[in-house]
Amino acid sequence: MTHSPRKIIIDTDPGQDDAFAILLALASPEDLDVLGVVAVAGNVPLPLTELNSRKIVELSGKTATKIFAGCDRPLKRKLVTAEHVHGKTGLDGPDLPAPTMPLQTQHGVEFIIETLRREPAHTVTLCPLGPLTNIAQAFLQAPDVVGRVQQIVLMGGAYFEVGNITPAAEFNIYVDPEAAEIVFKSGVPLVVMPLDVTHKVLTTRARVEAFRGLNTEVGRVAAEWADFFERFDMEKYGSDGGPLHDPTVIAYLIRPDLFKGRHINVEIETQSDLTLGMTVADWWGVTNRPANALFIGSVDADGFFDLLTERLARL
Ligand code: RIB
Ligand code: CA
Repeated sequence: MTHSPRKIIIDTDPGQDDAFAILLALASPEDLDVLGVVAVAGNVPLPLTELNSRKIVELSGKTATKIFAGCDRPLKRKLVTAEHVHGKTGLDGPDLPAPTMPLQTQHGVEFIIETLRREPAHTVTLCPLGPLTNIAQAFLQAPDVVGRVQQIVLMGGAYFEVGNITPAAEFNIYVDPEAAEIVFKSGVPLVVMPLDVTHKVLTTRARVEAFRGLNTEVGRVAAEWADFFERFDMEKYGSDGGPLHDPTVIAYLIRPDLFKGRHINVEIETQSDLTLGMTVADWWGVTNRPANALFIGSVDADGFFDLLTERLARL
């Protein structure tokens, strides 16, 4: 029985790892129908995340894909960026040509609202790969769309791995904790890819050489993104490569069997300066707080990279 591709909106702050996620999604039309790509301020400011989004989509060749700019700052706080990880452009490594693809004039939050109102209820999945500002703004501006979302599959948070931007918090949640609180309390079915799982998908040399060995422009660019992106985590953690955080979101939609997790309660710290942005995950069930998220803890890493590489080879 053939299944129809799942309709998704990718919300993103590219970011080399975001780029892998966008390419994986666009290379998988039998599984995913990408209704739009919405840029958000995060790894780098919005003018760069929207420019990078257009560069990545253009590289994929899927130039009918609509790209939007969303929010340029968190709901209530100053923007915190991550050039120390991604470089000053946010997409350092290979040089990509200036894009010829247009940016849609509609605001990305408007696009999310309009799409959720137009498509049948529970048929659109949101895939946030950066701070949750756009999603939260859509829910604040149009509460009627919250109940129409099929699922949110996001990269963010951490429990056993603790923080990567502070001792307690992962970057995407830390940048906009108020937005994260809105999303985690929304009641929308959540699947969370925290550092606990993304730190298990490392760009080892063999995996990067498999990208390069595709002998395609996409393979070359992917290898050079990985070569640049991995250095920060390798120096910090002494790991055997960098964690490819964001494509775990897309891989989950295509091959959920590659992942394992628990349906638990996850709440967001928004008050304490010390632990701001911490995802307080009740992994051991020590509270009676209702479960609100499938929190992913493990992955078949070889299966993940086989899927990613096989799909990149299509572009
Ligand atoms: O903490 C990792 C996350 O922050 C990834 O999504 C990366 O792209 C950055 O947005
Ligand atoms: Ca990201």
